[in-house]
Amino acid sequence: MPKLVVVTHPNLNQSLVNRLWIEELANLGEVVKVHSLYEKYPDLKFDIQAEQELLSQYDEIIFQFPIHWFNVPYALKKYIDEVLAYGWAFGPGGENMKGKKIRLAASTGGDKAAYEGGVSLDDLLKPMTISFKFCGCEVLPTHRIYGASHGLEEEAVKANAKEYSSAILA
Ligand SMILES: Cc1cc2nc3c(=O)[nH]c(=O)nc-3n(C[C@H](O)[C@H](O)[C@H](O)COP(=O)(O)O)c2cc1C
Repeated sequence: MPKLVVVTHPNLNQSLVNRLWIEELANLGEVVKVHSLYEKYPDLKFDIQAEQELLSQYDEIIFQFPIHWFNVPYALKKYIDEVLAYGWAFGPGGENMKGKKIRLAASTGGDKAAYEGGVSLDDLLKPMTISFKFCGCEVLPTHRIYGASHGLEEEAVKANAKEYSSAILA
């Protein structure tokens, strides 16, 4: 069963991590469908019904994004607010996300040490994971890479990308 990867990155041309993650996913062929929100909707005016229909087709969905201001990019928050609507994802008749497996894949600029001993990446992502659980989803472990703003080598990102695709295949 193919898996959907919803990518939220405002400028993939200038990306290292998210671009290499997508390149690695391309090797998986039809196992994954990559859906880039900024490419499909440069103005971020989502076709909510089309997006709901797309999500409905997949049992496992990965949301891939860079951390922006200790949060998901606002485009992804907008997507969640609009697409996971009352009566569709929750509330009366809102059972369309129920039972789906959700995985987050997040990149940070801050290095690993910046996320240890204080607020962790998992802490930052809690509103997302709680929201998906609220909709009846099973939340899988987050795939991650730290340190994009700290001289992360391309080879390290490529190795991390292989771990990402292995997790998706598992
Ligand atoms: C507007 C903006 C806000 C950011 N805020 C954070 C942040 O709060 N914490 C952090 O670790 N990195 C932050 N970053 C760095 C990005 O997370 C990092 O550049 C990105 O994950 C690298 O992925 P990429 O190579 O695919 O662009 C921010 C970057 C931008 C553009």
